Amino acid sequence: MKEHIYKAHFIELPEPLENGVAIYRKEIECSDVKSAVWSVSAYGTYKPFLNGEEVGRWVMAPGWTSYANRIQFQNYELDLKDGKNVLEISVGLGWTPFNSFRANGTSALPVIASLAITKTDGSVEYIKTDETWQVSESPIRFSTIYDGEIYDANFTPSFDKNAVKSPLASNYLIPQQGEDVITHERIAAQKIITTPLGETVIDFGQEVTGYVEFNICGSKGDECCIKHAEVLDAAGNFYTENLRSAKQEMRFICDGKPHLHKPLHTFYGFRFIRLENWPEEVKLENFTAVVVHSDLKRTGWFECSDPMVNQLFKNTVWGQKGNFLDVPTDCPQRDERLGWTGDAQAFARTAALIFDVEKFFDKWLEDLIYDQYANGQVPNVIPNTFSDRGGGSSAWADCATIIPWQMYLAYGNKALLLRQFRSMKKWVDYMDQHSTDDLWQGEWHFGDWLNLDDDKTKNDVLASAFFAYSTQILVDAGHILGVDVSYYEARIPQIKAAFCRAYMQDGVMKVDGQTGCVLTLAFELCPEEDRPKVAAQLNRLVSECGHLKTGFVGTPYLNHVLCQYGYSETAYTILLRREYPGWLYPITQGATTIWEHWDGIKPDGTMWSKDMNSFNHYAYGAVCDWLFGGVAGINPDPKAPGYKHILFRPYADKRLSYAKAALESRRGRIESGWQVEGEKIRYTFVVPTGCTATVTIGDVVQEIGAGTTEMLL
Ligand code: BGC
Repeated sequence: MKEHIYKAHFIELPEPLENGVAIYRKEIECSDVKSAVWSVSAYGTYKPFLNGEEVGRWVMAPGWTSYANRIQFQNYELDLKDGKNVLEISVGLGWTPFNSFRANGTSALPVIASLAITKTDGSVEYIKTDETWQVSESPIRFSTIYDGEIYDANFTPSFDKNAVKSPLASNYLIPQQGEDVITHERIAAQKIITTPLGETVIDFGQEVTGYVEFNICGSKGDECCIKHAEVLDAAGNFYTENLRSAKQEMRFICDGKPHLHKPLHTFYGFRFIRLENWPEEVKLENFTAVVVHSDLKRTGWFECSDPMVNQLFKNTVWGQKGNFLDVPTDCPQRDERLGWTGDAQAFARTAALIFDVEKFFDKWLEDLIYDQYANGQVPNVIPNTFSDRGGGSSAWADCATIIPWQMYLAYGNKALLLRQFRSMKKWVDYMDQHSTDDLWQGEWHFGDWLNLDDDKTKNDVLASAFFAYSTQILVDAGHILGVDVSYYEARIPQIKAAFCRAYMQDGVMKVDGQTGCVLTLAFELCPEEDRPKVAAQLNRLVSECGHLKTGFVGTPYLNHVLCQYGYSETAYTILLRREYPGWLYPITQGATTIWEHWDGIKPDGTMWSKDMNSFNHYAYGAVCDWLFGGVAGINPDPKAPGYKHILFRPYADKRLSYAKAALESRRGRIESGWQVEGEKIRYTFVVPTGCTATVTIGDVVQEIGAGTTEMLL
């Protein structure tokens, strides 16, 4: 009964549609119904309807997986009435045609469904998709993820054709594995702006991912458009160049009747909308931004005395919401929105603090297993849409080891580590087999993406550093799982020694690059006695210019290692810097999410570039794991993961008068914070029942148990 959908067949349109949407329909007679469960999926995105009403909360179902291997299905309880009931399923392309930076395609829009009706006498009747289902084109005349939708209210579905059997096999289906993707906040339109160009623009005050729900009437045949954008330009005009080829539109053709409308098979990244040819007076109450993302449980909160740092944290939360729409994406707006592995690994630790992301990553990591190449390389994006490209870039591909490990630290669950272990090993073996004299050199990498020191930290340095780090994670995981990893254990000192021989001299990095120093410290690549020298080198490199120069690869570890080696003051200077480059500069420019570039908008209002300038790119939001781990001081202990034992290591700085964080862990609520009291600092720690903690503040080390502990130091 539970898996009756496997007995159904995919059906599809007799003639494929280009960028179109189909509606499948079946009328059924019902009586004596006790309960009914409808299992539905599609190769595309679908929305089910019963008697003209939407069914279920899901948006963009069935979600995005490695489609060549698996597609999720969802179950919906239906409230069938006695007599005639109409089942309908709207199906659009969704992510299925995604190929590199293209989202358009021609498709027969396959759908599959099975409705199990349990009668009052206990018997079960099944209504499955088959050739008796009728099908029609939809009033949604066009729908793609990048370009948006066109809806013609004058179009009446004809249902004059029957569906045909699709060659797609139902054994591709898997039950819903990730979190449900649903709507969350509804944000009222804040203000209407008439721009210098005379455009009518609405500001929602917050960059979000989702869509706009709007009321419209107009006269029959009126055609209007809502365009979506993240920012206004220097002159205050609506700015869309950074969306590249993505149109991000919602076009509507009126029939003279009132409608409350929303798109069904697409989503947008936006804060502003521009109304084009709006056929009636523009009223704020007619527009609502509806936020869409995976239904993650919120677990982490941070607050301190600096409102700009609080805004940075808030922007990171919004960045996560905006980019956790079933897969972890780089951005939600331009012609990309892909599961970039490098961004995901940089942000995973922060992600697991702010929200409970185990189930979310459990699904995505299984897709990684499916899409990983036979030679062990990991594609650059998961699900892999780059049919023409390889993978295996250092730091990007290391998501195969880093993310399972971070999930283990956060939730203490060995099962996920166990399932991923082969994939982790395959990736480490790839690096090992491609290494020469214990170094991994010479292959193609993204490098320390978007760094500011002209790639001083060369790709070879990154590659061997991550080779060592991933090998270490594999060894740690092997020990936990009881797997023999002695070969890899023996490799670690060899790789590290080769790294030091090649890239270090007199105990410091040969090349003065911030990220090289950061990784050497974070991954413990050099002998312990040299680490203070490397830390001093890093501190000098930051202090000389007064800011960070690290890119996607070095930034997540930068402030952690500065604190660890006695330079917390420098870490705070980096954090609190309000000028470019640094975390607070975008906030001075009104950012409500994390930008891809520190200077996405320059002080004079001009744009960094039109090509690669996302205003919702969570990667640099990774600083929030330092807000938790370094500022407030909440850290998991690898020896007792899932916060069974907590490592409290706060680094206070008197430029803030207080800071505090709370983490709703699986074992209960953890709190850590401090406030300045004259010359002293009062620390407060809350440990959940059944857990223990070690507090380390400078030279003070104290074991504490459950409950609240205060320390005045
Ligand atoms: C994405 C990045 C990604 C990068 C790879 C970009 O287009 O937006 O965030 O990691 O490509 O270099």
